[in-house]
Amino acid sequence: MSQRFCVIGQPAHRSLSPRLFAWLFAHFRIDATYVAREVAPADLAAFVAEMRHGAWQGASVTAPHKIAVRELIDAEDDLAQRIGAVNTLAPGQGGVVGHNTDALGCRNALAHAGVALADANVVVLGSGGAARAAVFAALDGGARRVQIANRTTDRAAVLARLAGDARCGVLGPEPGALQDALNSAHVLIQSTSVGMGDPMAQALPEGAVLGSGLAVHDMVYRPIETALLRAARARGCVTVDGLWMLVYQGLRQFQLWTKIEAPPTIAAALHAHLHGAAH
Ligand SMILES: NC(=O)c1ccc[n+]([C@@H]2O[C@H](COP(=O)([O-])OP(=O)(O)OC[C@H]3O[C@@H](n4cnc5c(N)ncnc54)[C@H](OP(=O)(O)O)[C@@H]3O)[C@@H](O)[C@H]2O)c1
Repeated sequence: MSQRFCVIGQPAHRSLSPRLFAWLFAHFRIDATYVAREVAPADLAAFVAEMRHGAWQGASVTAPHKIAVRELIDAEDDLAQRIGAVNTLAPGQGGVVGHNTDALGCRNALAHAGVALADANVVVLGSGGAARAAVFAALDGGARRVQIANRTTDRAAVLARLAGDARCGVLGPEPGALQDALNSAHVLIQSTSVGMGDPMAQALPEGAVLGSGLAVHDMVYRPIETALLRAARARGCVTVDGLWMLVYQGLRQFQLWTKIEAPPTIAAALHAHLHGAAH
């Protein structure tokens, strides 16, 4: 019998995951379907119950459910627990198990571009679900220092507390704090939603200067080249677009569901496949 997978969210229909998994299932000749399923917050519990009864063999979880779903599932793995967000559901012992593949997706996207996190000074923009993944990716990758900058500084402080690591701190709103951090940073991870759907939107304050030695990863993937990545490229920085993270977090989901570890060449093929659709 054909296996059934989906991405749940509101909205879910703009997700690139159906295209990503259709390609993977065809490539590995797996008899499975993957659809986008609109799920309102009020219907989230019913969806988890469907999964518990075997209607789905796996699900990706997107906004706004990544945190709320934790209350409804039967177990979660260590990383999802630490990050406090679930982006993947899989059947497991005792029922529906939550996982987080975003942090690994972020780490692997950087590694693919040859960007080292070990001993690096990392600046993370944002404090939402994506920023949580970025902070844990950087800390678990061995970063020397992780500084979080967010429009709402209080939320950055909450994230730093969640990380619970002396290497992790918050940048205040005072002028110059972010620039000082950028001046000594090796890696900048942009994980706000600024730029999504707007190629001109600036994620950094006007006048911010990027050093040419900085590696810049923007998690936004629509458009693939954001204003930040354009500016970074013009400065000679290594740039990593959000599609790479999407691909790598998806490959980890695929592994959780099928137990197949895709060979390294698959990431580039998938990136190329999705490139035309990410506009
Ligand atoms: N490439 C991937 O695989 C991948 C994976 C996950 C997420 N993402 C992308 O990452 C982005 C963030 O997702 P999320 O789940 O973290 O969203 P979220 O939880 O809603 O958080 C949004 C973040 O963006 C900030 N923000 C929003 N509008 C802003 C503005 N006008 N100026 C400054 N900051 C602003 C928010 O700041 P406040 O706290 O001040 O509101 C918050 O830090 C989205 O574009 C998402 O598509 C990509």
